[in-house]
Amino acid sequence: MEVRFLGHACFELSDGDTRVLIDPFLTGNPKAAVAADDVNPSAILLTHGHGDHFGDTVEIAKRTGAPVVAIVEIARELAEEGIETHDPNMGGTVKFDWGWVKVVPAWHSSMTPKGTASTPAGLVVSLGETVVYHLGDTCAFTDLQLVGKRTPIDIALVPIGGHYTMDREEAVDAVELIAATTVIPCHYNTFPLIETDVEAFKSDVESSTSSEVVVLEPGESHTT
Ligand code: NI
Ligand code: MN
Repeated sequence: MEVRFLGHACFELSDGDTRVLIDPFLTGNPKAAVAADDVNPSAILLTHGHGDHFGDTVEIAKRTGAPVVAIVEIARELAEEGIETHDPNMGGTVKFDWGWVKVVPAWHSSMTPKGTASTPAGLVVSLGETVVYHLGDTCAFTDLQLVGKRTPIDIALVPIGGHYTMDREEAVDAVELIAATTVIPCHYNTFPLIETDVEAFKSDVESSTSSEVVVLEPGESHTT
């Protein structure tokens, strides 16, 4: 399984012919590694409705026919556009022939560019032999320790930029609760407001937890 960082909080998970695209904010993303026209996902997953996550969802879904997994209020908005959707809510799991997606809590807020309010989420994705947890935009909270209890997390995609999410120091506490084998930081250095020292995060995590941090530049991949 390959995890490719496409910039900000956008990742593409690939296994064989399956490509799972999460939070496809590409147009207008100063760190986007690809254009919205260049992705061809099997499915699109959304953590929440903010523009820096919702991004090019409508255009990509309409062009490729890829189904979108999003919390029910956002899924309903997308379905009105004629997009194939799956509409889970907290605790729900959507099964595909390639694996599954489970919706878990995130402490944040959420509204789509069109104004649909909903609860923000984290997403646990099982693809191939690997379980990936995209935290969405969240602060640290103790229930993070429940997420990997039944399905241990191989790779956690963790926001560290501060201001709109937890900062790199709070993220160390979150990482300790999640206990993933590998942590890939995201949601930092896209804009001046969320600039942070990713090497300091890596060093703090690796000296105080059992997780390993893999820092990816936009366009780079990590293979399991
Ligand atoms: Ni957000
Ligand atoms: Mn965000």
